Amino acid sequence: MHLNHLSGKNLFIRLGLLLAAVGTAATPAHAEPTNTIPTLQIKADQVTAKVSPMLYGLMTEEINYSYEGGLYGELIRNRAFKANPTNAVFWNVAGNGAISLDTNQPLNSALNVSLKLDASKAAKNSPAGIANAGYWGIPVRPDTTYHASFYARGRGFSGPLTVAITSTNGEIVLASAIVPKITKKWRKYEVTLTTGNVTPSKDNRLVISTTKRGTVWFSQVSLFPPTFNNRANGNRPDLMQLLADMHPAFLRFPGGNYLEGNTIETRFNWKKTIGDVSQRPGHRDDGWGYWSTDGLGLLEFLEWCEDLHMQPLLAVYAGYSMRQQHVTPGPDLDPYVQDALDEIEYVTGDMNTQWGAQRAKDGHPAPFALNYVEVGNEDWFDKSGSYNERFAQFYDAIKAKHPSLQVIATTKVASREPDLIDEHYYRSQEEMEAQSHMYDTRKRGGKTKVFVGEWATRVGSPTPNMAGALGDAAWMCCMERNSDLVVMSSYAPLFVNVSDLGRGGSMQWRSDLIGYDALSSYGSPSYYAQKLFSTHHGDAVLATDSQDIPTYSWQAPAGRGQSQRPAPRQVPSLFFDATRDSQSGIVYLKIVNRQSTPQPVKIEISGAASVEVEGEAVVLKANSPDDTNSIQEPDKIVPVTEKVDGLGTDFTREFPPCSITILELKTK
Ligand code: AHR
Repeated sequence: MHLNHLSGKNLFIRLGLLLAAVGTAATPAHAEPTNTIPTLQIKADQVTAKVSPMLYGLMTEEINYSYEGGLYGELIRNRAFKANPTNAVFWNVAGNGAISLDTNQPLNSALNVSLKLDASKAAKNSPAGIANAGYWGIPVRPDTTYHASFYARGRGFSGPLTVAITSTNGEIVLASAIVPKITKKWRKYEVTLTTGNVTPSKDNRLVISTTKRGTVWFSQVSLFPPTFNNRANGNRPDLMQLLADMHPAFLRFPGGNYLEGNTIETRFNWKKTIGDVSQRPGHRDDGWGYWSTDGLGLLEFLEWCEDLHMQPLLAVYAGYSMRQQHVTPGPDLDPYVQDALDEIEYVTGDMNTQWGAQRAKDGHPAPFALNYVEVGNEDWFDKSGSYNERFAQFYDAIKAKHPSLQVIATTKVASREPDLIDEHYYRSQEEMEAQSHMYDTRKRGGKTKVFVGEWATRVGSPTPNMAGALGDAAWMCCMERNSDLVVMSSYAPLFVNVSDLGRGGSMQWRSDLIGYDALSSYGSPSYYAQKLFSTHHGDAVLATDSQDIPTYSWQAPAGRGQSQRPAPRQVPSLFFDATRDSQSGIVYLKIVNRQSTPQPVKIEISGAASVEVEGEAVVLKANSPDDTNSIQEPDKIVPVTEKVDGLGTDFTREFPPCSITILELKTK
């Protein structure tokens, strides 16, 4: 039996007694601090579980302009003119011309609309052109080369075209190049634009213009800055670096609701997201209300994994979309099951397979290693109850072809025993803390492990504040302590573009881990909390026990359909877990103090021959739970590493208010 479970039970019993003492009278204010110093015991000779090497990963989907206007390097908004069927949204006329959408001059059947520029009034001192201001700006940095490309054809027009990045008012030209000749037939044109010693800025636009008269049609107008690992069609380096610093073990993609769509038609239809970007039709991300070009498609997700050394966790569409559309299990579902098998083959198949050959043709001959496939997303929302059977159909087909794949269910099923079940927890700080021992008592023994595929303490907007980070850290202590059962987890959502926080703007969901605008980015306190956990977890969970953990009184809100709030309960205000790295012998003691006062804690370590007097502490703290990072103050709350002494097998240390500490204890 896990000593940690005993420890958790003891805690529950203590909390129960406290609650009984409080009774059900009116909600008391937060509990008075007691003078008793809490004590923690770490039993270094009692390993209760292995820390799952897959515990800390990432979850991603197109929400909050995560890819387009976010991670995906493309700087042009509505590059293929399909975001709105009647208007050339995000495009403007530059100078003396007229623009309109034209469905009579398509580039191909995927990009079936083009942008027509009537430059019939252009003149030497009066150019006509098209302009795009990107996703809330176009970032410009000094001495940087941008790659611009577009398809064009002319009528009564043979060029030249000037391609330029200018300030929004057009007064400053930051970089420009000339395309001397435009043909009558569609052709792709490419130029590089290199800036000089300019000040970094984002209030810029791309302008393609001419001083010659005629008509020009454009398709897929694109502008890329340098990308992470210099990948063509690649990702934004600063955001990739923030992710790389977290050392994530896996990436769950492509959603989330983005996988399902509101309707079957608007699901993530992976076959339409591969190949040359000019052959991808794009689709409306109707769950989150905007257009996706699918420039970041299936192969780009996989290359993102490759770049950050993450395992892909591939979520396959399972025949349910959010407006209660579901495909009836049986023959009707077969094509979707086949689609999933094809998708798995695209990821893992060698070049002798149909879809492996397609991947090679798309630019990646080597197969990707794949161990996890998730069937659907949040299928508890499917009121028809079809998931039980749909899951079985996918599970059987996947296991028959790929017996070693771990198949994840999105909700409980009776039809099959999934390898993992995906649980989602979006909570307030108090709720997160109140459930911070829930896995201690969860029954073990079955085959099915837990993947907490979406979780977040949703406090703070657009990104979580320190209260969010404290709730997260309490929750991560719980998952880590129980990582024999909870083998994988991923916070959600990962990204938010913070440029336009009004209705219909750049954010669809508040409290997102990483924020950015066109030019800069930052990690929230929750980002740093998670980075601390994911880079200090060792490989063995140690048994712990505790006494006199301080608590506060909290009354949960009334549940759905309930008129009464439940009775107040006592919730811990100090959280902890201890893990060890077997190679170095370092014990990572994580302590979270959610109180506004410093908290001395007595720490007793048994089962270790010695503990060095000196060690290290990495501390994330804030003056108040409301404190946060932002685009203006990206580094207000960041971890600080300090040398510590006075450590040993028995010592007392004070933990700052509103803090998350990782104490590194060198044991032998
Ligand atoms: O993370 C935001 C959304 O929350 C996800 O798309 C969905 O799976 C969940 O309901």
